[in-house]
Amino acid sequence: MAESSVLLCKGCTPWQGILLTASLLNFWLLSTGAHMTTELVPLQVAEGENVLFLAHDLPESLTAFAWFKGLRSTKKGIALYSLYQNVSGPGPVHSGRETIYRNGSLLLEKVTQKDSGFYTLRTYNIRGKLIATTSIYLHVHAFLWKCGRFDISGQPTIESVPPSVAEGGSALLRVRNPPENIIAFAWFKGMTVLKDQEIARYITGRKSPVTGPAYSGRETLYQDGSLLLHGVTRKEPGLYTLRILRTDMKSEAATVQLQVDKPVTQPTAQITETTVAGRRSAILTCISPDTDVSIRWIFNNKTLQLTERMFVSPTKCGLQIHPVKRENAGEYKCEVSNQFSLKTSLPVSLVVTNE
Ligand SMILES: *[C@@H]1O[C@H](CO)[C@@H](O)[C@H](O)[C@H]1NC(C)=O
Ligand SMILES: *[C@@H]1O[C@H](CO)[C@@H](O)[C@H](O)[C@H]1NC(C)=O
Ligand SMILES: *[C@@H]1O[C@H](CO)[C@@H](O)[C@H](O)[C@H]1NC(C)=O
Repeated sequence: MAESSVLLCKGCTPWQGILLTASLLNFWLLSTGAHMTTELVPLQVAEGENVLFLAHDLPESLTAFAWFKGLRSTKKGIALYSLYQNVSGPGPVHSGRETIYRNGSLLLEKVTQKDSGFYTLRTYNIRGKLIATTSIYLHVHAFLWKCGRFDISGQPTIESVPPSVAEGGSALLRVRNPPENIIAFAWFKGMTVLKDQEIARYITGRKSPVTGPAYSGRETLYQDGSLLLHGVTRKEPGLYTLRILRTDMKSEAATVQLQVDKPVTQPTAQITETTVAGRRSAILTCISPDTDVSIRWIFNNKTLQLTERMFVSPTKCGLQIHPVKRENAGEYKCEVSNQFSLKTSLPVSLVVTNE
């Protein structure tokens, strides 16, 4: 089935279409340059409340989108919307409390703590190809101090600049819409405002911030509440929470998720023998020091089309062609990728001779 027919196929539900498509896509993890984002409204939610995952800046070329539970799995589909057909459908993990909207947003009603976790929005073009993906973490609190809650209008939020940082780089967690009349700011690692998770606090009027138990020496707290993280390590992605105390003794909190990129290193493609007689077999290996990567084989600069004479190992790092035919002669490369980066090996050539 051509990819373009997948989303449009008659007789199959759009959801089946997407799952078919997803299985064709080895590279659904790669997000493109599109700046699609999502936000939670309200930012903090307690058991029994409703939360809306608002989608912003959907790519223009999209014809379908789907919400998934989790970061990577395409099996935990919640709901799909096909704009082309103007229909939506539930996915395998739809709980009956979710509503998907044409504008990309997803409403989740009567949340429970079990709903906590990552939610991922993926958008597809008319050919069923993934255009962009974005994820957001939902933390469902057992309860919220209502006195600490704030109006949705003008509530403080935090943005990470840049949204995702390379290992060793720096990220500024910047406060937007800070309230007036602030007495103090305090930053915590994670979602909870526990004392031993405190990184640092800043009390207005004092000259310098006070560091807390979770201070690593690589954080700088500014007077406006922003937190600069230097030399970010792979261990540091995750959630950061800012607590703001106001002069009326009310407190507000906002959480941000820091993403740390771990770019892949260039893989090496190897071939056991470069010259192989027809009908013998050729074995290619893709060597990559990285874990959690996807591997793709490239033949003469195009994705390798597997035939019945080709066998790939489960992680795709090994490729065997048996028996080799003349049409298999050419240049082979392998490409490894993760959510943040993609690198291609140098080519290896396969020459096929007569017996
Ligand atoms: C999609 O379908 C709904 C009813 O199911 C209808 O109200 C709406 O106008 C349709 N939108 C488009 C763009 O066709
Ligand atoms: C999308 O639609 C929902 C439901 O109608 C609405 O609450 C939400 O504000 C819309 N989102 C955007 C970004 O317009
Ligand atoms: C693949 O592309 C590279 C760079 O564009 C080019 O040098 C090479 O000759 C191409 N190989 C084949 C087999 O087309």
